[in-house]
Amino acid sequence: MAFKIKKLLSFFFLLLLQSMLFEVVMTIEESTSTTGGHWVELQRSIGISAMHMQVMYDNKVLIFDRTDFGPSNISLSHHRCRFNPRDLALKLDCTAHSVLYDLSHNTLRPLTLRTDAWCSSGALVPDGSLLQTGGFNDGYTTLRSFTPCPQHNTCDWRELPNYNLSNSRWYSSNQILPSGKIIIVGGRNSFTYEFVPKNDVPSSSFHYLPFLKLTRDSNRGEENNLYPFLHLLPDGNLFIFANRNSILFDYTTNTVLRNFPIIPGKEKRNYPSTASSVLLPLNLTGLNGTRLPEAEIMICGGAYPGTFSLANTLKIFLEASRTCGRLRVTDSNPVWVMETMPTPRVMPDMILLPTGNVIIVNGAMNGTAGWENAANPVLYPVLYRPGLIDPFPRFQLLASASTPRMYHSSAVLLPDGRVLVGGSNPHRVYDFRANPYPTELSLDAYYPEYLGIQFDSLRPSIVAVEAVNNTASYGRVFAVNISLWEYRVGGVGVTLVAPSFTTHSFAMNQRLLLLQVLAVQQVATFGYRVVARGPPSQAVAPPGFYMLFVVHAGVPSTAVWVQVK
Ligand SMILES: *[C@@H]1O[C@H](CO)[C@@H](O)[C@H](O)[C@H]1NC(C)=O
Ligand SMILES: *[C@@H]1O[C@H](CO)[C@@H](O)[C@H](O)[C@H]1NC(C)=O
Ligand SMILES: *[C@@H]1O[C@H](CO)[C@@H](O)[C@H](O)[C@H]1NC(C)=O
Ligand SMILES: *[C@@H]1O[C@H](CO)[C@@H](O)[C@H](O)[C@H]1NC(C)=O
Ligand SMILES: *[C@@H]1O[C@H](CO)[C@@H](O)[C@H](O)[C@H]1NC(C)=O
Ligand SMILES: *[C@@H]1O[C@H](CO)[C@@H](O)[C@H](O)[C@H]1NC(C)=O
Ligand SMILES: *[C@@H]1O[C@H](CO)[C@@H](O)[C@H](O)[C@H]1NC(C)=O
Repeated sequence: MAFKIKKLLSFFFLLLLQSMLFEVVMTIEESTSTTGGHWVELQRSIGISAMHMQVMYDNKVLIFDRTDFGPSNISLSHHRCRFNPRDLALKLDCTAHSVLYDLSHNTLRPLTLRTDAWCSSGALVPDGSLLQTGGFNDGYTTLRSFTPCPQHNTCDWRELPNYNLSNSRWYSSNQILPSGKIIIVGGRNSFTYEFVPKNDVPSSSFHYLPFLKLTRDSNRGEENNLYPFLHLLPDGNLFIFANRNSILFDYTTNTVLRNFPIIPGKEKRNYPSTASSVLLPLNLTGLNGTRLPEAEIMICGGAYPGTFSLANTLKIFLEASRTCGRLRVTDSNPVWVMETMPTPRVMPDMILLPTGNVIIVNGAMNGTAGWENAANPVLYPVLYRPGLIDPFPRFQLLASASTPRMYHSSAVLLPDGRVLVGGSNPHRVYDFRANPYPTELSLDAYYPEYLGIQFDSLRPSIVAVEAVNNTASYGRVFAVNISLWEYRVGGVGVTLVAPSFTTHSFAMNQRLLLLQVLAVQQVATFGYRVVARGPPSQAVAPPGFYMLFVVHAGVPSTAVWVQVK
């Protein structure tokens, strides 16, 4: 009894403390709503528009747009000015087009991009560096890298002059492979794929992929196959989706293993009829490290045929797609299962939350991607719960944002469970005064409902990861020590989330594994030790840095970074 009272008292003290803290926080931040989560503006201006974003293992976010937009709103020190006679907008440019945003301090530092990374792609390599590929103009075949430097915080982009891409990569997609190499697929007029880094293969090597040509619409400037959706499946093959078609592809032998059925509906799903695509959580819990998990892809939104050319020429904006399709690609005869979103949406971002649910955010209700090609921003994010059984409503409208996020916006999951949202620039240059939809320099955070103080007693905190060098090795058992006020039997899950490279509504390399939990042991009054098994293979979890979350009763901890190798 005495113990119970003590526990209650300390619990209320904690609540009191938390609500005091919360009040302090609330006075300095602007909150737009308190139901279905809420939004906070982190920065009114980061000086650039967050077209591409990548969270790194030192809790900094690499953000960049393009170098041929004219002057941005953040200066570079003079010795870092960029002179480029080929630049179409500004030959001598002393402004930055990339920043490093520090999540812990809400501060940023301008970075130096030397070539144009507009509409490029990227992926983290196993050591946690970003390998970033392609772009426009002087960036078509450029490789760049950024290596985090948590110790001194002075690192910058490195352009890799010794290695160029074999084909121009503008609007391509990347995926890290089981070997730790990156495959880069497609791009405007590049119906090919190639592998990076380039250091051990002749730089001329690339492979044709006729699928990319077959899925290209060539009428009136529509393409509808750019930024193809690319997902590594647990058997090591790739799922590739473009326009309305998809294949199972063995990149080791350049073989199409199967053609999946065409997604129902007339809608086109890739740029400029931009939808989004996600590999739903890989559930390893019942598999004992031996069988491969099932894999399911979900694609949401897009635009009807002809929408792009009407928007592009006459500025008539047709309504976007309302549908999502799910395809369990590991079935012997997969069929698309279609569902209807609460609103139409083109250019959605789909981000996996640590709980395994999906948040659909950003984009517009009418039009397509491209310059001035959309109208009617969708301010409401939508939560999608893949685990719920029909006909239960799996979609839930969430708290409204206040900033339209149109073409060239992005979103990423943060290690503390928030979703970072930025960007939006449907114009050819930086246009800070355009009305509507000015070039958006702000950065917002969406706080899902699970971050609310009403869940504090259920929220686990990770005290320690009991694994050598914070490494979750393949097939090996490791433990996570957590503290938790109110334990619910059977409520503990461990998830690993690969941080995405997000641009153009596609979170490349995004991946969530629900690990097998072998035991939950109580080791102190509020202390538990969770024993879990590392992922079974490189194809299920390519090597690299992942955010490890403990989720209890639907409430996630803050993540710790672990390496999978
Ligand atoms: C950024 O915009 C603000 C407000 O318009 C302006 O005062 C400032 O000079 C701009 N900075 C740069 C580097 O362009
Ligand atoms: C890569 O491309 C750049 C720019 O086009 C060129 O200057 C450089 O020589 C190329 N490097 C190699 C190794 O081909
Ligand atoms: C994962 O798989 C296990 C075992 O099949 C099942 O009980 C559980 O409900 C699944 N979890 C989710 C989130 O789908
Ligand atoms: C799971 O694996 C353990 C050993 O790691 C084994 O003892 C047990 O029988 C396996 N269970 C199943 C259902 O395969
Ligand atoms: C969006 O589409 C709907 C349905 O076609 C139409 O009624 C509406 O006028 C469109 N909105 C804009 C801003 O074009
Ligand atoms: C985790 O908890 C157990 C039991 O209290 C303890 O023996 C172990 O040292 C803890 N591990 C770490 C890394 O703190
Ligand atoms: C752990 O990290 C240290 C320092 O980087 C390294 O020397 C050691 O070999 C690593 N241990 C394992 C088992 O990887």
